[in-house]
Amino acid sequence: MNQDRVESLAQFHPFTRLNKLLEGVQPGGGNTPLLLSLGEPQFQPPSFALDAIANAKELWSKYPPTLGTVEFRAAAKAWLVRRYGVESAFLDAERMIAPVSGTREALFHIALSAVAMGAPKGKGKVLMANPFYHTYAGAAVVAGGEPAFLPAGPETGFLPDPDAVPADLLREAAMVYLCSPANPQGSVASADFWRRWLALARRHDFLVAADECYAEIYTDQPPPGAIEAAQAGGSCDNLLVFHSLSKRSSAPGMRSGFVAGDARYISRQAQLINYGGVAVPLPVLAASTALWSDETHVAQNRARYQASFDSAQAALGPLFGNVKPGGGFFLWLDVGDGEKAAVELWRQAAIKVLPGGYMARTDASGRNPGTPFIRVALVYEPALLGGALERMASVLASVLAAGGRVRAAGRGR
Ligand SMILES: Cc1ncc(COP(=O)(O)O)c(C=O)c1O
Repeated sequence: MNQDRVESLAQFHPFTRLNKLLEGVQPGGGNTPLLLSLGEPQFQPPSFALDAIANAKELWSKYPPTLGTVEFRAAAKAWLVRRYGVESAFLDAERMIAPVSGTREALFHIALSAVAMGAPKGKGKVLMANPFYHTYAGAAVVAGGEPAFLPAGPETGFLPDPDAVPADLLREAAMVYLCSPANPQGSVASADFWRRWLALARRHDFLVAADECYAEIYTDQPPPGAIEAAQAGGSCDNLLVFHSLSKRSSAPGMRSGFVAGDARYISRQAQLINYGGVAVPLPVLAASTALWSDETHVAQNRARYQASFDSAQAALGPLFGNVKPGGGFFLWLDVGDGEKAAVELWRQAAIKVLPGGYMARTDASGRNPGTPFIRVALVYEPALLGGALERMASVLASVLAAGGRVRAAGRGR
């Protein structure tokens, strides 16, 4: 790897930058510090999952198979069938589904298999929204590809517009990362969005990596899935969907998710794990099988997030209009200067948030589209969040006033 690539990894890591920004700033206001910077749900996964791990204790002495167990793949498939109305015959669970050790690792691996293992010469571009989840750009760089950033701000409905991608980028693309519900924007892709991206991917022979790890956390209707568009088109060619238990089941520590879709990429993924990855341990697979088979805890989880969105709307609505995301659990607030707001929230209220600019790159016009924003993760119990959101509103009111604004524009969706 050349030095530029090594430096870009260190330079752009959002949490490294946040630590540096807040170095020496004391958390203030006499409050216990609250970390709303990280998307790590602070709830307990259901106890039946922990029981399943305990009941499978004799399996700790076995290396897990790369593609997991028949039961796990069947549970993941049954969930896709239930959640997205996919026909059972459409998905061959033996060839088209694989467990992963959290989707972050799998999203990282997929750039290795689409670029380093697979891209023909001249086809090394890795497309992604701007702003975006940082793993995508890191993966592109490590795989020897080149990240290409697509506008995904208010002007495009906070998602990258497939009709606006320049022709040369489409020709040179090895893959695109698309996230819905989107981190950080909270936007939700329509079925038509997925259909249009998939059509482009097939025409120009690149892979769509659909990161849907927030699919079960939403405010209104369940977000449509990329796999529905694939079924409407008759095949999963050029598509992988990524699903996780970290957000759905509040189990980020289990490191468990799955990837489903184009069998050619699933088999490359398996090779990467065989040589140097981590297969999901059998007791964790047993718990994961139980979690994918249950909806009760997911509905309870969603209700908890609804209560937090309502508190956020009550506290911050007077300043920002509609703050509720379409999906996921992040607020994405236009505060004028995200870094300044992050420092003031830490200094005055002991609340840690992420400046939006750390999740984006400077675009062709020289502007970083994330700079005016902060990202706020609503990952604590609603009762704990309520007071924090009130404190946040009072700090942000003074940040907006200092920037000459009384009220910011709403999210517009
Ligand atoms: C957009 C997005 N994708 C993927 C992940 C990775 O999740 P996990 O590895 O826990 O499945 C995260 C985690 O925060 C995320 O925000």
